[in-house]
Amino acid sequence: MLNNITEITDKLKHGQNLEHNEFVTLLNSNTAKLRNELAQSADHVRRLNFSNKVYIRGLIEFTNYCKNDCYYCGIRKSNSYATRYRLTKEDILSCCENGHELGFRTFVLQGGEDPYFNDDIMEDIISSIRKTYPDCAITLSIGERSYESYERLYKAGADRYLLREETANNNHYSTLHPDEMSFENRMKCLNDLKAIGYQVGCGFMVGSPYQTTDNIADDLMFIQSFRPHMVGIGPYITHQDTPFSDNNNGTLEDTLLIISILRLIEPKLLLPATTSLGTINPIGRELGIKAGANVIMPNLSPVNVRKKYMLYDNKICTGEESAECVNCTNTRMASIGYEVVTDRGDSPFI
Ligand code: SAM
Ligand code: FES
Repeated sequence: MLNNITEITDKLKHGQNLEHNEFVTLLNSNTAKLRNELAQSADHVRRLNFSNKVYIRGLIEFTNYCKNDCYYCGIRKSNSYATRYRLTKEDILSCCENGHELGFRTFVLQGGEDPYFNDDIMEDIISSIRKTYPDCAITLSIGERSYESYERLYKAGADRYLLREETANNNHYSTLHPDEMSFENRMKCLNDLKAIGYQVGCGFMVGSPYQTTDNIADDLMFIQSFRPHMVGIGPYITHQDTPFSDNNNGTLEDTLLIISILRLIEPKLLLPATTSLGTINPIGRELGIKAGANVIMPNLSPVNVRKKYMLYDNKICTGEESAECVNCTNTRMASIGYEVVTDRGDSPFI
């Protein structure tokens, strides 16, 4: 077993693809020693590609209306306790103005799947941001849409799209989502986005309900072959008003190990240390960066809506003004020897 692990970590460090059973072995051997070893290699590889730079993305959570009912999500349509809100185009532009002054050169528009934001409305918002901030990247994270819709939004000026696969295992997918949502369509969307020319981010929650080590290995195999530009992973955290309220949270240790594995699988990946990682541990994001992540996504949403975009319990950064979030991020990164940069931070693949 010991030899086996050494062979597998050597393969990873030399940039060779791993087999499914090798990922399973690694994930089942998650000790502090293995995490430290892989974090060191991941940090080395990241410094070769990005030096000590950390890219910031300004997250604008512009609607918490959603037509979907994902069982794990605090803003699912059946959560009648959620107070719903939508930002106007003017609100969104004002978040961008504030963000631009604070040094952001990427805006991430994220929301539930809200039918109000049809193609005409999204096109108008995107082209206004594109015209006002030609030096900025626009990332969308608004769920599943048709090829034609994705294409219109790309032509309007969106550059990147985040759509986590959530799990690359069809059976596991159906334990997390109601019947109306299909794994096939999720995968189709990811392929469409790539074909259109977006920089694409996929990803999954670590420790989501019913997830097995085999399932995580499925995700890593998928990522290895799909070759996304970005991968968002963070621990699953329960929300009290969902059907999974009694499930356990994902762990810091598993998330850190997977971040390092991802950096080694794909050295040029844009890989955020997520808010959920910062929620399960006070220095979770710092540890994520040290394990190989290179992106932080501070919140630019107006403070009066932040508590309403409650995907999971105890989400952090819901009370601070954007400027405070930026200062906090800069200080936290400097304290561990990394530098937050004002840069679009495009994928080196393009
Ligand atoms: N509607 C878009 C979509 O489905 O891609 C974007 C919004 S959705 C809330 C963004 C991400 O939040 C999801 O991809 C999911 O992985 C994550 N998320 C939802 N509920 C979560 C939870 N309880 N714990 C951790 N992450 C969660
Ligand atoms: Fe739609 Fe979570 S169920 S954003």
